[in-house]
Amino acid sequence: MSETAPIVVLGGGGRIGSELLGGLRRARVPLRGFARKELDIASRPAVARALCEVRPRLVINAAGYSNVDEAECDRARAERENAHGPAILAAQTAAEGIALIHLSTSYIFNGRKGRAYCEDDPVCPISVYGATKASGEDAVRSANSRHIILRTAGVFGASIDCFPKTVLRMADSGHPIYAAIDLRGSPTPVDHLVSAILAVVGALESGSARWGTYNLAGAIGASRYELAKAVLTARERALGVRTALISAMRMDFGSKARRPRNAELDSTLFASTFGAAPGPWNEATETFVESYYRSFTLPVARSRTR
Ligand SMILES: NC(=O)c1ccc[n+]([C@@H]2O[C@H](COP(=O)([O-])OP(=O)(O)OC[C@H]3O[C@@H](n4cnc5c(N)ncnc54)[C@H](OP(=O)(O)O)[C@@H]3O)[C@@H](O)[C@H]2O)c1
Repeated sequence: MSETAPIVVLGGGGRIGSELLGGLRRARVPLRGFARKELDIASRPAVARALCEVRPRLVINAAGYSNVDEAECDRARAERENAHGPAILAAQTAAEGIALIHLSTSYIFNGRKGRAYCEDDPVCPISVYGATKASGEDAVRSANSRHIILRTAGVFGASIDCFPKTVLRMADSGHPIYAAIDLRGSPTPVDHLVSAILAVVGALESGSARWGTYNLAGAIGASRYELAKAVLTARERALGVRTALISAMRMDFGSKARRPRNAELDSTLFASTFGAAPGPWNEATETFVESYYRSFTLPVARSRTR
């Protein structure tokens, strides 16, 4: 890869895309980010034009339809953005000899495995979101051999919408908090995810990367209940205010989409290949809670006196 050609990030207006753009900018990587209004990944002419104009050395696709419940009611849109778009990107990047990093999800699995999922476990989605993401993976694998698919899960950070932030918002508004004990995943701190993707970029540049599909998620698993509990404990330490947490089952929420009861990912392969991987979520919750409250005009010190 020529180090002077830019890296293109798609989905730059999204949660992960915007954090990734920030991380790459801080690493002084030549860069071009596209939000949806600037480039629709499901439009072949628009993708071809952008690649021809920018001539990137690498494309990172963080675009997609990520609303798991809404996708159940809008399969056409989920297919367009999660399957058709990646198929176009893979074909167009392959035609130009450009490598592609594509983000995927643990929701391609059915959740029945008793342990964390490995890369070669059978894919068996149970939601429209999961099915369309699995099709997107297939399309990338078959059209561009120079691909790296990164399956991530439960990404959280103070600057992005995520489950731990919903827990804090509800706690702040005095609502009772219910969290499922039978929904497990691998919560992933967004800054750890960005550092790991930077490691992939470095490996591609040094020619030491191995193409393929990798799990890339937090080092240890947790149920939604365990994660909410840790977030509320950190909040109590920061603000001195206790909030009740009520354990629930996933069916109590009446969500439109089925979610895998175990969506834990084993990221060992990624760690041994790229020498970096996200750490455990529990070590990041305190910092997450502190940054969340720092981002308001409500400083932690002042709120302690309430
Ligand atoms: N966040 C997580 O915990 C998580 C976990 C596992 C996997 N992932 C995967 O990571 C990727 C990024 O997720 P995210 O959490 O950052 O989602 P997000 O916040 O919803 O961001 C996705 C972005 O993609 C854009 N987009 C959708 N369709 C597009 C199209 N046709 N052309 C161009 N842009 C398009 C969206 O624009 P609009 O807002 O205008 O629709 C949005 O800005 C997704 O592939 C998701 O499946 C995320």
